[in-house]
Amino acid sequence: MPSTNLLYHLLLAVLIPITTAFPIPLLHPRQSVATLCSETGYWSGSGYEVNNNNWGASSATSGSQCTYVDSASSSGVAWHTTWTWEGGETDVKSFAYSGLQVERGHTIAAIGGLETEVKWAYNTTEGVRANVAYDFFTDEDPERETTGGDYELMLWLAKYGDIQPIGSTDASATLAGHDWDYYVGNKSDGMRVYSFVAISQIDSFSGDIKEFFDYVTDHDGFPAETQNLIVFDFGSEAFTGGPTELTVSSFTASMDT
Ligand SMILES: *[C@@H]1O[C@H](CO)[C@@H](O)[C@H](O)[C@H]1NC(C)=O
Ligand SMILES: *[C@@H]1O[C@H](CO)[C@@H](O)[C@H](O)[C@H]1NC(C)=O
Repeated sequence: MPSTNLLYHLLLAVLIPITTAFPIPLLHPRQSVATLCSETGYWSGSGYEVNNNNWGASSATSGSQCTYVDSASSSGVAWHTTWTWEGGETDVKSFAYSGLQVERGHTIAAIGGLETEVKWAYNTTEGVRANVAYDFFTDEDPERETTGGDYELMLWLAKYGDIQPIGSTDASATLAGHDWDYYVGNKSDGMRVYSFVAISQIDSFSGDIKEFFDYVTDHDGFPAETQNLIVFDFGSEAFTGGPTELTVSSFTASMDT
């Protein structure tokens, strides 16, 4: 292919002088599978997905976010995200996440287990208002779009700043070996939201999410027989702060059907 060769040599001719003149220090020597900087930047592979998901960026006065997939295989995904957001104090700017690509058509009652493990770290949380959380949506319609659902269940592993889950708390629970404050409330669109907020920050979580669904079934009449799993995600809801960086060194999730 002479034309490809020519192009290659032309590229080298351009690149070599530039790299020689401005050697770029390797600040992040991590290899990257994908770089996602657009508001809906999305990657999927090996049964997982990663989304930059800056869904509330328009309520910020300034800021930006990029998410990087560092590695991925059927045994899990590693990624990191960097962000800075200012303004719109009470609004979520983004929920960058890794998720399991959920096979549709399974009610919570019919799922035997929802095993997951995650390890994460923020490089700084000074002046940061954000959570680090698992997020699950369920709906009566098994084909419901991933943007919504009848019910949402969240596990907040960490909370920075004066942010709060939807609703109010009147109970605490010990589940998956950790103590949680339990919040219940409805979003303005009617979606009912269950939030478990870890009383002590959890940097490394391992457990079966079915335990949490069993709890809301027993305590709030969650209709597990008719609600299908739609979304199984882990990420961080960013309000304001930064520059900061969240590294998820490993996320695994599975659904036992
Ligand atoms: C909250 O959401 C649940 C589930 O969608 C619904 O059954 C209930 O009526 C809602 N409650 C209020 C006060 O809107
Ligand atoms: C954290 O990471 C961000 C984004 O890479 C960087 O701008 C910031 O300087 C880092 N902060 C610390 C304390 O390492």
